[in-house]
Amino acid sequence: MASAPLSRTVQPETITKGITLTLQIDDAGALRQAMVAVLRDEGLITTDSVAAAMNAVPRHAFAPGEPLEKVYQTDTTLVPKIDAAGRQTSVVSASHIQAIQLEQAGVLPGMSVLEIGSGGYNAALIAELVGPTGSATTVDIDADIVDRARVGLSRAGYEQVNVVLADAEHGVPQHAPYDRIIVTVGAWDIPPAWLDQLTPTGRIVVPLRFAGITRLIAFDRSPGSLALTASNYRLGSFVPMQGGGAATEQLIAVTPNIGLRLDQQSTAAFDVPALRKALNSPPVVSWSGTPFDMPDELELFLLTSGPELPMLYAAQAAVDQGVVNRTVRNGTPALVRGGSFAYRIKRENAQTASGYETGVVAHGPEAEQIGSELLSMIRNWANSYFRRGAAHITYYPNTADTGHLLGWHATKRHGVLAVAWP
Ligand SMILES: C[S@@+](CC[C@H](N)C(=O)[O-])C[C@H]1O[C@@H](n2cnc3c(N)ncnc32)[C@H](O)[C@@H]1O
Repeated sequence: MASAPLSRTVQPETITKGITLTLQIDDAGALRQAMVAVLRDEGLITTDSVAAAMNAVPRHAFAPGEPLEKVYQTDTTLVPKIDAAGRQTSVVSASHIQAIQLEQAGVLPGMSVLEIGSGGYNAALIAELVGPTGSATTVDIDADIVDRARVGLSRAGYEQVNVVLADAEHGVPQHAPYDRIIVTVGAWDIPPAWLDQLTPTGRIVVPLRFAGITRLIAFDRSPGSLALTASNYRLGSFVPMQGGGAATEQLIAVTPNIGLRLDQQSTAAFDVPALRKALNSPPVVSWSGTPFDMPDELELFLLTSGPELPMLYAAQAAVDQGVVNRTVRNGTPALVRGGSFAYRIKRENAQTASGYETGVVAHGPEAEQIGSELLSMIRNWANSYFRRGAAHITYYPNTADTGHLLGWHATKRHGVLAVAWP
């Protein structure tokens, strides 16, 4: 279904042009197969159906102006839209993220699927997966993106996809109910409309932001309960949601180059002058003896198993000046108390399974104490939860009973997200 319409448009006017166009299409086909092979090798495509869909849909039809080689790399986003403040508001997502989400969703022929956040390419993949007896709907808040998605879908032969211009905070009631809702924009919450428009056995795949991080979570309804239970979660991030579901984080500047980032609901307060002073105090470094591996899982554990930890960020300049370790550049959970703070670092250590060892650097008058607290959290994770998927993630909409919740949870606008480490 997918590549045929494109090749139909190849009507060589001259032999030379015909050869050129044919070569381009052959190149795209070969690059597409290579992309699928890489995604399979990396364990991101695990089913033949997703492989077949990704082999069928011409990704380049949705990325006008982008070089073919770039289009078929697995980790590259395409055709970004940038707002007046220089922020990305839309991209065609990297194919490795699309593979992860499609595998999480488990889309079957005949299903009705809503994609939130359009680009065209992923909607075409969904159309391939649901087949002629299913239906694919994609919604975007941005008229330019909707137009571009429509053009791409039509060019690639997927006119059957419903393309809707709307704020997805309210879902897309006109094509509901959905067996799968695949959210391809960073969400901070799960609005009631999504649950109302989901079938009783439906699944939501959503990049959910909490505690300063995002995880791609596949949620199923829990039998006999209003709660949603995560069947799996993965690392990944998306441009943030606009419209009614938009959320902001608090940014606390410690210096012009170093800051703490907190969820918008946090009420934590920080002694910024004391922390600034701590940055100039000698670091106290200690090592855990445990392997540095799966940092995303460790990060999730640190953020959701004890006291509230803000995310510590630094600009490259602060790293270059040796004020903080380079791990801070991408954000890392920090244990902060008064004028002292600690965060994790790594070093090479051939004695560990991964060849690296996790450690802690701490600053401030309580550096020894706070450093050893963080170290014991790291050892606890390494000894008891050192595997993928150890966290149990549950979302309770406001209609559900949350009185029993004792462990870590975050109160959102429409519900409560709970993370347990059983
Ligand atoms: C990462 S892009 C989607 C990529 C797309 N699924 C693909 O094929 O690769 C995220 C999109 O979400 C859209 N978006 C942001 N907030 C939205 C909202 N409230 N409702 C619908 N779409 C929204 C943005 O305009 C943007 O185009």
